[in-house]
Amino acid sequence: MAVEYRQALRGVTPYKPARSLESVRREYGLEEIIKLAGNENSHGASPLVARALAEFNSELTRYPDMHCTALRSALAEKLGLGHEQLVFGNGSFELISLVAQTFLAPGDEAIIPAPSFGWYTVAITQAGGVPVHVALDDHCVDLGAVLAAVTDRTRAVCLVNPNNPTGTYFTRARLDAFLGALREDILVILDEAYIDFVYGEDFPDGLDVIRSHGNAVALRTFSKVYGLASLRIGYAAAQPGIIDAISRAKQPLNVNGAAQAAAVAALRDSGHYDHVVGENARGRQLYYRSLGEWGIPYIPTQGNFIMFDTGRDSAQLELEYLKRGVLIRRGAEFGMPTWLRVTIGTERENLKVLSILRELLNL
Ligand SMILES: Cc1ncc(COP(=O)(O)O)c(C=O)c1O
Repeated sequence: MAVEYRQALRGVTPYKPARSLESVRREYGLEEIIKLAGNENSHGASPLVARALAEFNSELTRYPDMHCTALRSALAEKLGLGHEQLVFGNGSFELISLVAQTFLAPGDEAIIPAPSFGWYTVAITQAGGVPVHVALDDHCVDLGAVLAAVTDRTRAVCLVNPNNPTGTYFTRARLDAFLGALREDILVILDEAYIDFVYGEDFPDGLDVIRSHGNAVALRTFSKVYGLASLRIGYAAAQPGIIDAISRAKQPLNVNGAAQAAAVAALRDSGHYDHVVGENARGRQLYYRSLGEWGIPYIPTQGNFIMFDTGRDSAQLELEYLKRGVLIRRGAEFGMPTWLRVTIGTERENLKVLSILRELLNL
């Protein structure tokens, strides 16, 4: 008799991450590859992080602090939150899984606007929950449609703001109206991975929301503006009851010591933070200008990535970019077959993406 595995896992379609640099390098014999497919930070982490990691070397042989004490204190002070309002994870990926495992029983529904961050569907399915997808409206999360999709089985709503992959956002006013109409026993996940890049007006700060709503949790990460994607560290902020519940599902040593030390150092360097945000804004303007000039439709973005409509098969274009040493994301993955999603990188990287686009589209 064969060994059986859990029924819920049969429904899991494995998450498709951006391709690894090494596999691309080998396949196409490339010297240099520019990776702009995962919305990482091309500007690097703060120099304070390098120093903290060098000092951390002496602690490599010890288990990490399971309470993330230094980081918890630094962050609680910076954000004006109590220590018991934070839980740390091995990136937001882990936190999303933990939230799903904590709050969903088999058959419970979680609503996910689509397209959005793909891990929500996987994590909810793994937990035995049922993902319910609600289409975007004009590339924006449609909070009215989300509300209309609520059933007796709904236990959670997963809102990525600004949304990945489209880069759009919903305002505080719209979120307030939504929260006012939503059943209070439904958990509202506000994924704010890209909040640091936002410039739009009336953007709702998830930390304000969790202060006034006991059914909300905000997720943030050190992978984007702080440039620590490889170290894997993020956090959830909510009222203590929610944090306590998530902590029960968590293994004790989920955040490694190097990540904790690096995150503390990264928080100290506001100059580097401003530099990254500023460079992203410059890159964004370059895309707006160039795409505008060439008449290529794009979605104004609040993130560190941009989507534009080439009018051509995006899988083919992704391959052509790959052959030229640039890794980007085809919109087909998000149900937008003629669009590309590109991470905004350094000026040199952005110029390269645009010059390849000119070549491929004969602009
Ligand atoms: C919306 C969103 N949430 C979470 C993540 C994952 O972040 P982390 O690196 O903290 O796991 C990503 C990564 O791209 C993302 O786009």
